[in-house]
Amino acid sequence: MTQRIASQELVKDFTSNGDGRGRAADELQVEMRGTTNTFRRGIMKRSIAILLAVAVIALWSGSAYGFHDQGVAHCNGCHTMHNSQNGAIMADGGSPGNGVNSYLLQAATPSDTCLGCHAGDGGSYHVLASDPLVPTNERGAGDFVFLTEDNINDGHAGASNPILGYAAGHNINAPGHGITTDPVLATSPGGAFPSADLACSSCHDPHGTDSFRLLYGANRLVRTDGSTFVFNNAAPDATGLGLFFGVEGNANHTAYKAGMSAWCANCHGDFHNNVAALIHPSGTPLGNTIAAAYNAYNGTTDCVNNPPAAAGLPCGTGTQATAYLAQVPFEDPANTTTSTAGPTSSSRVMCLTCHRSHATSAPDAGRWDFSVTLLDEDGLESGSYVIPNPYDANQRSLCNKCHSKDEFDHLPFP
Ligand code: HEC
Ligand code: HEC
Ligand code: HEC
Ligand code: HEC
Ligand code: HEC
Ligand code: HEC
Repeated sequence: MTQRIASQELVKDFTSNGDGRGRAADELQVEMRGTTNTFRRGIMKRSIAILLAVAVIALWSGSAYGFHDQGVAHCNGCHTMHNSQNGAIMADGGSPGNGVNSYLLQAATPSDTCLGCHAGDGGSYHVLASDPLVPTNERGAGDFVFLTEDNINDGHAGASNPILGYAAGHNINAPGHGITTDPVLATSPGGAFPSADLACSSCHDPHGTDSFRLLYGANRLVRTDGSTFVFNNAAPDATGLGLFFGVEGNANHTAYKAGMSAWCANCHGDFHNNVAALIHPSGTPLGNTIAAAYNAYNGTTDCVNNPPAAAGLPCGTGTQATAYLAQVPFEDPANTTTSTAGPTSSSRVMCLTCHRSHATSAPDAGRWDFSVTLLDEDGLESGSYVIPNPYDANQRSLCNKCHSKDEFDHLPFP
């Protein structure tokens, strides 16, 4: 029996509980196990409905019900001890009483287990939509659905030279959701993490941490197939958007504070982080000139129309108080999720200035497509999702936010 329960009814159910707050999501999930057949088709859909209802209640009551709650969630959200409840199977296969998955997981792989809850359309905590042209709400990391695109090449002749979706970011091993290991990169470039073992639980601790987004910190053993990999650098200091109602914008964004580049280096080594090796700096202070350029820059059109007042000064009319651009973030301990201030000379460029951490609709998980001249070319050749352009049709690469190499362009384009 797998009928759906409308969130309306659940809201009623929650609020009619007498104490004005309703029962915890956990209790409801457990009760409902009695009427479900399988983890993914039964419980999970309902959990999502329940959690939506919980989110509605959170709006009313001001307190949110979670699952992980910054630590280890109830074990049977992800594991099953006997693969049996009321004589029905709990995991993705087998028969009651017969275990089927390693680590007694509810799904065949760690990532498929996470995606049992985290795959879905729309907002909330979903990170894998069903259609790459309709990704989930952006909250920082980007949507894994872009890994399923058949072409993300918007460079010249991109239509006839497809770049497959695997180049869009981190290929977590989740065959149950149509995502498999990166066919080209055997390990993390710059480091040695095996691509075949890349999972949600390679970056996020499945048993929770007190860190930003449950990420692993220093001196942690991260599981790979039959072995472990050591993280040497701490989890980044950052604050994320609320998952249920957050959507990224210039006044609503992840507050990156410190340590992101070093954290990525757990797997990518010195990649992009070694100025001596003539690699773009990452994790280093912007300095006065670049901070001033970022603050003044407000798009190609504005930059060209408001050229530098004197040699060496930046172009544009932007001001520090409102200069923050969510598409080109920087690290600063003063950042908050709603701050609009641009950088100071001590703010830092970091890996996520140019990349997103899950995937994007551009090669190399770029925050914008590094292979187009004008941002409006994005999606034209490939037919893939168009990454939103923060400015107008004249806009060139967002590298210009810090370097303003578009200041002597011809306007309007072409
Ligand atoms: C959010 C999902 C999730 C929850 C909740 C969860 N686990 Fe796990 N667990 C996993 C995954 C995924 C693995 C596989 C190893 C990996 O990917 O790191 C695992 C592996 C394990 C292992 C074997 C490997 C190891 O790290 O020792 C044990 C034991 C374990 N879990 C116990 C528990 C217990 C006890 C609880 C409840 C207190 C729990 N788990 C809650 C997802 C979860
Ligand atoms: C039973 C459903 C369920 C499963 C399975 C599940 N999650 Fe979640 N996850 C949630 C819910 C609900 C939230 C939002 C509330 C919260 O943070 O507890 C969430 C939030 C998160 C967040 C954001 C946490 C924060 O503090 O901002 C991360 C990261 C995450 N999950 C990772 C994972 C990973 C990795 C796995 C698999 C090892 C996993 N989840 C499995 C339901 C689930
Ligand atoms: C647990 C290890 C691990 C961590 C941590 C990690 N990566 Fe990766 N990364 C990999 C592996 C493995 C690959 C190669 C497989 C793939 O691309 O799917 C990869 C590939 C990439 C790629 C190339 C994608 C492509 O297909 O061309 C980029 C860009 C990237 N990582 C950026 C980052 C950034 C930025 C961070 C920090 C937010 C980060 N990585 C953290 C393991 C990791
Ligand atoms: C390479 C490391 C890496 C892998 C693999 C990874 N994550 Fe994340 N994830 C991150 C980082 C870093 C952030 C914070 C991104 C930000 O705010 O810029 C994040 C953010 C999130 C969030 C918050 C919402 C958002 O979009 O920012 C959720 C939920 C989440 N991850 C779940 C998952 C699940 C589920 C998987 C597997 C399907 C997964 N992650 C795989 C590194 C990773
Ligand atoms: C200034 C922007 C910028 C910053 C900062 C940056 N990257 Fe990149 N990254 C790029 C571009 C552009 C590419 C495309 C290849 C190239 O130009 O070298 C790329 C490519 C990559 C790739 C793919 C390499 C391959 O062989 O396929 C990985 C992995 C990567 N970056 C990781 C990182 C990590 C980790 C950091 C932080 C330590 C980082 N990047 C910081 C812009 C940046
Ligand atoms: C958040 C600001 C920021 C963004 C965005 C950014 N950079 Fe940089 N870039 C820096 C900083 C800081 C330096 C350090 C050199 C300096 O002090 O001039 C640098 C240095 C460079 C240099 C070397 C300059 C020299 O004198 O050797 C090049 C080339 C460069 N960046 C290209 C790019 C490209 C291409 C992109 C887009 C993919 C990009 N940058 C995006 C901040 C940024």
